[in-house]
Amino acid sequence: MQISDRLARLKAPAIRVIAERAGELAASGVDVVSMSAGEPDFTTPQAIIDAASAAATRGETHYSPAAGIKPLREEVAQYYRTRFGLEFAPEQVIIGNGAKPLLYETLAALVNPGDEVIVIAPAWVSYFEQIRLCEGTPVVVETTPSAHDLDLDAIRAAITERTVAVILNAPNNPTGKIYSDDRVVDLCRLSIEHGFTIINDEVYERITFGGRAYRNPLCLCPDAAEHLVSINSVSKTFAMTGWRVGYALAPLPLIKKITALQGHIISGAPSPAQWAALAAIKNGGDDVTRMCDAYEERLALISQSLTAMPLVRYTPPDGTFYAFVDIREVIGRTVRGEEITDDVGFCEALLEVEQVAIVPGTAFLAPGFVRLSFATGHERLEAGLSRLHRFLAQISEP
Ligand SMILES: Cc1ncc(COP(=O)(O)O)c(C=O)c1O
Repeated sequence: MQISDRLARLKAPAIRVIAERAGELAASGVDVVSMSAGEPDFTTPQAIIDAASAAATRGETHYSPAAGIKPLREEVAQYYRTRFGLEFAPEQVIIGNGAKPLLYETLAALVNPGDEVIVIAPAWVSYFEQIRLCEGTPVVVETTPSAHDLDLDAIRAAITERTVAVILNAPNNPTGKIYSDDRVVDLCRLSIEHGFTIINDEVYERITFGGRAYRNPLCLCPDAAEHLVSINSVSKTFAMTGWRVGYALAPLPLIKKITALQGHIISGAPSPAQWAALAAIKNGGDDVTRMCDAYEERLALISQSLTAMPLVRYTPPDGTFYAFVDIREVIGRTVRGEEITDDVGFCEALLEVEQVAIVPGTAFLAPGFVRLSFATGHERLEAGLSRLHRFLAQISEP
């Protein structure tokens, strides 16, 4: 059977290597502490589940319109009005099966073969492969070395005639960074000057710490409205990863094209799940606060523990539920006589020696770092951190 060149090129996420080994160990009865999850450990709040159940019971079990049910499109537009002060008509909102397919559909709508899309690294795992699936060329631009902020000089240098889009993600997975306002404004100005689109993935926008507020780029640079697509979802905010509901807001012509594509591929997001998302966005504010408070408490534990550990460097995140840790000092040292040659090797050794699963930075185009998820209960987190400390204490000079 022939496999297309497009799919033959597709690489499985590096994130999976450790996850699969951790799964094997756990299945054989080993007590593995997983700090690798990219999803909330909370169950979806009951009122949201009830809304889906009520919708299904009253017959909301048919195909949804390709762009999503009207009340949810209206609610998302209303949410952007109250949350960010931004005006979108409901027709400028499309509901999809989570942020991930909406990102892909947006790229499919924008990218011709050979077009370039700038990816700001460290970057979430799927951008790179999605661009390649659309036969575009990913152009990776690093953030500033210690602060992980946007590097405008590097972005400017990477822009060519073929640049059609820049993917922006804040709070960032994996660094947790909310980029500085002035740099976001500069990027918006560049999009106007060069005519490219900013694909703004803001799925963690409500999970922020220390009173740090995230703002949509259009709050900072309203003139970029014709150059920005905002992509968001209920997955992380409301602990609804399995419901598969996301939304995109963009200029109408783009929304129409994405809707046409979606109509041919998914028909529309699951109807009961869209009613659940509506209940979440409308009434789920207290649940978001409760979950964010829990993440913030865990973050305090993480920060305190990491500060006391040898060989690692760490800057607390502005948002998300990830801690991104610099382990470059460990590279070239040994544990139990074996050299740690890179971040993947570090994660493999940590799993074998102390049975803690974390994600190598290489999965996020950031070798020399690791990502710890604190979407894990307090007790397991404490256990994972003390095992990590013990592991680091065993590492010796080359
Ligand atoms: C930065 C980022 N964008 C998008 C997604 C996908 O979200 P969804 O569940 O809405 O597809 C994730 C999930 O891990 C993510 O971390």
